[in-house]
Amino acid sequence: MSAAQSAPLSSTPYERLGGAPVFAAIAERFYDLMETDPAYARLRAMHAPDLAPMRASLPRFLAGWAGGPRDWFEANPGRCMMSLHKPMTIDADVAGQWAEAMERAIAEVAPEPADMAAAMSEVLGRLARGMAR
Ligand code: HEM
Repeated sequence: MSAAQSAPLSSTPYERLGGAPVFAAIAERFYDLMETDPAYARLRAMHAPDLAPMRASLPRFLAGWAGGPRDWFEANPGRCMMSLHKPMTIDADVAGQWAEAMERAIAEVAPEPADMAAAMSEVLGRLARGMAR
């Protein structure tokens, strides 16, 4: 067997996209955009004044969601993102703000492979827009 054949495939999207540093960078950029761009003022206003807990929590959630370390899911057994957001008043405008800020954050961090990053961006955008009522 050649070295190429025996080399283990990086199997998960989390690993292939660059792992912890990339997921941390996406979350940091997402909350930086939310804090600084007035286009996301309504989304920002829904969150607690201190975004530090979210800056810690979102990358851990996304990591597990993308096949990486599952500590967020282990700390939140049975907690589903859709039901977690159900009590919130999320309209199409604010869901669009979430989706757009995330799409921008991913585009700016520009992880490789680009097609996988684009797919993640699209799925997260759809998830956010699907939370609107
Ligand atoms: C659709 C628009 C969305 C709105 C308006 C929204 C809003 C919020 C708010 C207000 C919180 C509570 C945080 C705080 O009080 O500071 C929260 C928590 C959270 N949201 Fe969203 N969210 C949205 C979509 C999403 C999506 C699509 C995801 C992931 C795919 C997500 C992931 C999370 C996570 C991981 C938490 C923290 C849960 C925890 O660890 O306690 N959110 N969200």
